[in-house]
Amino acid sequence: IASQEAEKRGWHLYLVGGAVRDLILSEAENGTLMINDIDLVVDGFHRAADVGAGVELAKALQEIYKNARLEIHGAFQTAALLWHKDSELDSLWVDIATSRTEFYPYPAANPEVEASSIRQDLYRRDFTINAMALRLTVPRSGELLDFFGGFLDLQAKQIRVLHANSFIEDPTRIYRGVRFAVRFGFTFEEETAESISYAINSGVYERTTQENIRTPALQTRLKTELKYILEAPYWQSALQLLDELDALQCIHYSLKLNKDILRKLRLLDICLRRFDKQQSLNHWQMRLELLIAHLAPQYRAKVAKNLQLADDSIMRLKKLADRQNEVITSLPNCDLSSQVVHFLKKYDLQTLILIALQSQREVRNKIWVYLTRLANVQPLLNGNDLKQLGYKPSPIFKQILDDLLKATLDGTIKDKDEAREFLA
Ligand code: CTP
Repeated sequence: IASQEAEKRGWHLYLVGGAVRDLILSEAENGTLMINDIDLVVDGFHRAADVGAGVELAKALQEIYKNARLEIHGAFQTAALLWHKDSELDSLWVDIATSRTEFYPYPAANPEVEASSIRQDLYRRDFTINAMALRLTVPRSGELLDFFGGFLDLQAKQIRVLHANSFIEDPTRIYRGVRFAVRFGFTFEEETAESISYAINSGVYERTTQENIRTPALQTRLKTELKYILEAPYWQSALQLLDELDALQCIHYSLKLNKDILRKLRLLDICLRRFDKQQSLNHWQMRLELLIAHLAPQYRAKVAKNLQLADDSIMRLKKLADRQNEVITSLPNCDLSSQVVHFLKKYDLQTLILIALQSQREVRNKIWVYLTRLANVQPLLNGNDLKQLGYKPSPIFKQILDDLLKATLDGTIKDKDEAREFLA
């Protein structure tokens, strides 16, 4: 339908980017393909008025598919149609752009847009494997446009940039390259690997870590890439490859992996599996918080802010050092279970996990016992039991329940009969 609408207007329509790559890969592997994210480009017009072709096509499609939501991003002449379902896997995003070239007036800046041909549109992309297009309109529909050797690179299993400046223009492409390399089991082609070292050695990461009015878009892209990487099953290999390339400096110049942080990240996975049932935890964000917690305290909040993490994350990282000191100082003095509960209940689950992972065995074990057992203990009698025993609901109820909980936690009472005796 989209190609018919484009043909009616005398335009060409192409499927581009990741969907073409994944289509070719799945053909080669005889695999099934799930595409939730489709990028289309409209091209083939010469009138200045047609620079908004992508938006016009999206509007025409929304007239036909009334259940789709339309979003228009004016500055970049792009529009999106969204069929949103509860599960991300069942949702569909169709981005429709007008063929364009992006030039960078200064490194790592926001791309500016002007109408141009499909070849130039593809040339501005990150890697050859992502820079192919499949023509959807007649004549020659079904034709693969592969100007930069993407098909051969897919076969050779290599990641290759289109031009040497690619990583200087957009350092987050290093993260994208790593993500594709690990996800598909590909390697960086030699000159591309050299371009990465060149970009890193020339200090490109400084722009991603600077607080600068020009960099929020870059920070957003870095955060998006980190999210993709840290929520994927291959997060560990991807982090290790980023570290080998010295690219973790894009988060902070002092960030390096070592055995200790990798061990903590693996322990974090045990915590995430264990506590997910209790409270849904944001896995990628927790992994990122642990990486940031690995930095010296004075950098943590700034890095979290730069990456535009959620406010609760920023606050947690800002206060982590103080909270950790409090816990390390006071928790060893809590001998009774009720004291442990009384002391730890003011901290949120994520803070306690981060502190436990950063602390010595004694503190770590006490936090673990608290989180896995003590935090869930209920007093042996509840409000209804108290009413049956003749207590009238009053402010004293809470005090009685607190006393019962304390006695339950410390093992002073072991069953309901003992609890009734305790009250008497
Ligand atoms: N792109 C780019 N530089 C970036 C981000 C994206 O050149 N920093 C280009 C890539 O060519 C990519 C296209 O924009 O193919 C669309 O981006 P996106 O949807 O993020 O990536 P996909 O390649 O579709 O990858 P994925 O399968 O992970 O969605």
